[in-house]
Amino acid sequence: MTRTPFMAANWKMHLRAADIDDFCAEVRDALAGSTTAQRGVRVGLFPPFVYLPRVVEALAGVDVTVGSQTARPEAKGAFTGEVNVEMVKDVGATCVIVGHSERRHVFGETDADVRARLDAVLAAGLDVILCIGETLDERQADQTLAVVGRQLQAGLAGLEGDVVAHRVTVAYEPVWAIGTGLTATPAQAQEVHAEVRRQVGALLDDDTAARLVIQYGGSVKPENVSELMACPDVDGALVGGASLAFSSFGSIVDFDKQGSGNTGVDR
Ligand code: PGA
Repeated sequence: MTRTPFMAANWKMHLRAADIDDFCAEVRDALAGSTTAQRGVRVGLFPPFVYLPRVVEALAGVDVTVGSQTARPEAKGAFTGEVNVEMVKDVGATCVIVGHSERRHVFGETDADVRARLDAVLAAGLDVILCIGETLDERQADQTLAVVGRQLQAGLAGLEGDVVAHRVTVAYEPVWAIGTGLTATPAQAQEVHAEVRRQVGALLDDDTAARLVIQYGGSVKPENVSELMACPDVDGALVGGASLAFSSFGSIVDFDKQGSGNTGVDR
């Protein structure tokens, strides 16, 4: 079963127009000559809303996914300050992150809110990254697998397997590892990734589970990406801090040149 690794830069509320222009120029230099299939890695950039059109334009013709960090599901309405799925689609985004732990914990989004966003993104024909992950308290209470199981059930139950296999990426991001410098060990990541795949098999079907791309997120950096990618069920990374400079994000995209031997082929 071939799964193309997916390396995604989640810039959160960082970088300004000039930084973004420089970053996009470096992406163009590095990637304009190859397709995702040729390089064997899908690359995604998730800028703040206001810079989405700028990134889409700067990377026109380059085989890179440009997406939004969130989007509301409602078609329209009195939601001062918010942006919906159709709006990010209008400006050329092709993917939306839903359920990031900062959306869940800082903005209070529930499992049901996350599902409403995911459904709206799929209905609009866009791809989606569904983030799941346990807090430190939940891990210490031995609740990790139960929590990710609940989040997967809420996020994916009832969807068509083929749609999930093609258009959904799951990002396992232990909340205690996000922005803290603490990374799950490869063994910890692999344990949860294997369980995510098993649970998706039980929820949907085994073929969908085998094709599902599962990213790891939480303090991924050039120094640890190879060992994480060497895990059989780790298919990519959702990267925050280390995605803010192309010097480090580019090395993460090039993880297979750092000795892990994991090229995404026939795993
Ligand atoms: P981090 O963030 O790489 O800075 O830990 C990851 C994320 O929040 O997606």
